[in-house]
Amino acid sequence: MNYTEIEKISAVPAPASMIETFRAIGYSLDTAVADIIDNSISAGAKNIYVDSQWEGGGSIITIFDDGCGMNCDELIDAMRPGTKHPLDDRDEKDLGRFGLGLKTSSFSQCRMLTVLSKKKGYAPVYWTWDLDYVNYSHTWELLRYIPEGYSTFLDDKESGTLIIWSKLDRILPAETSISDNGALGKFTEAMERVKHHISMTFHRFIEDKQIKLHCWNKSILPWNPFLIGESATQALPEDYISGGATMKGYILPHKSKINDGIYKYAEGLNGWNAQQGFYVYRGKRLLLAGEWLGLFRKEEHYKLARIMIDLPNKLDTEWQIDIKKSTARPPMVCRDQLRSYALRVRSQACEAYRHRGRIIKQKSGQMFQPLWLDKKKGDKWSFVVNREHFLIQEFKELAHTDPDKAMEQVLRFIEETIPIKSIFIKESESGENQTKPFEGADNDIIIIIKTIYKNQITIGKTPEQAKAFLLNLEPFNNFPELITSI
Ligand SMILES: Nc1ncnc2c1ncn2[C@@H]1O[C@H](COP(=O)(O)OP(=O)(O)O)[C@@H](O)[C@H]1O
Ligand SMILES: [Mg+2]
Repeated sequence: MNYTEIEKISAVPAPASMIETFRAIGYSLDTAVADIIDNSISAGAKNIYVDSQWEGGGSIITIFDDGCGMNCDELIDAMRPGTKHPLDDRDEKDLGRFGLGLKTSSFSQCRMLTVLSKKKGYAPVYWTWDLDYVNYSHTWELLRYIPEGYSTFLDDKESGTLIIWSKLDRILPAETSISDNGALGKFTEAMERVKHHISMTFHRFIEDKQIKLHCWNKSILPWNPFLIGESATQALPEDYISGGATMKGYILPHKSKINDGIYKYAEGLNGWNAQQGFYVYRGKRLLLAGEWLGLFRKEEHYKLARIMIDLPNKLDTEWQIDIKKSTARPPMVCRDQLRSYALRVRSQACEAYRHRGRIIKQKSGQMFQPLWLDKKKGDKWSFVVNREHFLIQEFKELAHTDPDKAMEQVLRFIEETIPIKSIFIKESESGENQTKPFEGADNDIIIIIKTIYKNQITIGKTPEQAKAFLLNLEPFNNFPELITSI
């Protein structure tokens, strides 16, 4: 097209409504703080401090890093929405993408964003976006303003950046009183969630000692989803996903194999069931924690399955990494690979859940003796008592000398060990496909029915009475035709 010959008219976005749109991107406080920390890590920070000051509606959240910082021009550029092009090639280690994170994540939580930054060899500099001013002036203008008490914060530091969120309208209404203890409790709880979220999102950076994270001046320990340090954790071999990503499955230990502290630690904030699934990392940064990516549902008996996926950042577009860096969608070509790998991990996790993590073949060379076996015939399933089990042999012996006791012990043994969990799992997986009593065993049932019938006649019942007796006797009530045809 020849643009020079075409008439043009300017259609600049209206600042106030544009900024309101930014606010609606859907960050939570946790994901917003994580996005700010991404910038700190990209800036080479070694220490990152997340803090909050309670002042009721005037409360403040700050994130300070000792990274390379920015000079005045760089800071102004950083404050511009869309400062970098999303399709630009980024450094392998760069956690940014859209050139929006600083602004959108901040505006999602607050109406005022101040950045104070110092680059080595430069004086500290600050600028502020105040949405109330943007609304009032209808201009894209930064203010030379910093909340009281912060202007000298970087004076004694070599370099670094301080992000200040004030007017936290999305977390605390402006009129919240400083003595409102209910609001303070909620605010503190929200900050605790932030702490957990970042200890998870950046756990590999903390473990590799690349960064130290601090919150309220205490260091944050890494939250590793895979309990790799536990000897009862099972790891599957790593596998490749087309396009250059990798995956590695972990079966976490059954509750009976770890102490209560570790069990609680591993359940995170949302509980074991919620934490199952894929953990998608980009670089070392966790994007998505515990999701089956639309391939499966979360179910109780798969709660020990967690799969690590590592994506290089060149796959952002294919995996549809969103602005918030909190969702990803695997490309079609990978879905079958992910599904078949996950099926293996899930089935092993289900075994660990059912058998309390017992490994079927014991180290001593002795075979493990299950009490119940699952039996499949066509698409029907049932559970049978393992006739080879040591105890069954014992009961047989006992029956010769004390049949009453043997019978009582067999019944007790069945009552105590019915595999309720396994039955529940099978039921939820294969629906109504369990076999009915004596299904497909007509000969067996006829012989039993006839024997009972004969015994009833022998004790003086009429044929009608004997049949009525059988029709009311479980499980023979399921076979009325057999009974009436005798
Ligand atoms: N803490 C920081 N230290 C140094 N530079 C920063 C920091 N935060 C942001 N920047 C600069 O601002 C730019 C814009 O950040 P952002 O809006 O988050 O977009 P993106 O991270 O996608 O580039 C970054 O690319 C970086 O150059
Ligand atoms: Mg960023």
